[in-house]
Amino acid sequence: MEKRNRIYEGKAKIVYLTDDPDLVIQYFKDDATAFNAAKRGTVAEKGIANNRISSKMFEYLESNGIHTHFVKRLSDREMLIKKVQIVPLEVIIRNKAAGTFCRRYGAEEGLKLETTVFELSYKRDDLGDPLINEYHALALKLATEEEIKKIKDMTFKINELMKKFFDNLGLELIDFKLEFGRFKGDIILADEISPDTCRIWEKGTGRKLDKDRFRHDLGDIEQAYQEVLSRIEK
Ligand code: TMP
Repeated sequence: MEKRNRIYEGKAKIVYLTDDPDLVIQYFKDDATAFNAAKRGTVAEKGIANNRISSKMFEYLESNGIHTHFVKRLSDREMLIKKVQIVPLEVIIRNKAAGTFCRRYGAEEGLKLETTVFELSYKRDDLGDPLINEYHALALKLATEEEIKKIKDMTFKINELMKKFFDNLGLELIDFKLEFGRFKGDIILADEISPDTCRIWEKGTGRKLDKDRFRHDLGDIEQAYQEVLSRIEK
């Protein structure tokens, strides 16, 4: 697989073309940002951990019937993926209250929610990724009604699978963010699934093993990512 021009650089990843028009390579950086890039830094070897963790998550989801953009992990920091058109939505599931949910609604962190919360944000850095609902998404033509239904069904199924997966590793999945893409007429799971995009707490102790350690300067950031990786690869 020949790696060609860089077509996109985001906060944590770079995307390169390949000699196959249907496939691209995503490269995982150590760069970390929070609060719409108001806070910036790097986390040593985060890119390696996130590439390996995401690869395992995609493999697990694929083996449970979820279509994803994952093709294979090529190296420590590179993943071969299908070239999708990203749906400009950040799709969030919350199992317990944390982060924005606490700030916005005054809920106590860790509160068990009466129902699983499905949330959409409009993926627009210049607007600060505003919270929207399904009507906004339709009105702005971000996705069709059929696509939103598919995304919602897949997201709830992914939540059940991921909760079970982390539970088996002694970890609790608090919340996470997904992105989806269009590929040959289908909607498939894209982007990454890592401690950058999930909140993961150690069962029993409640120890945070995710990007909140960076967002709130809790220390031992590198160790948290390595801890999740080592449990996943055990
Ligand atoms: P939030 O509580 O800050 O809205 O985050 C909810 C989940 O989404 C959390 O697991 C972190 C993840 N997330 C991202 O992956 N990217 C983002 O830009 C934001 C704001 C959150």
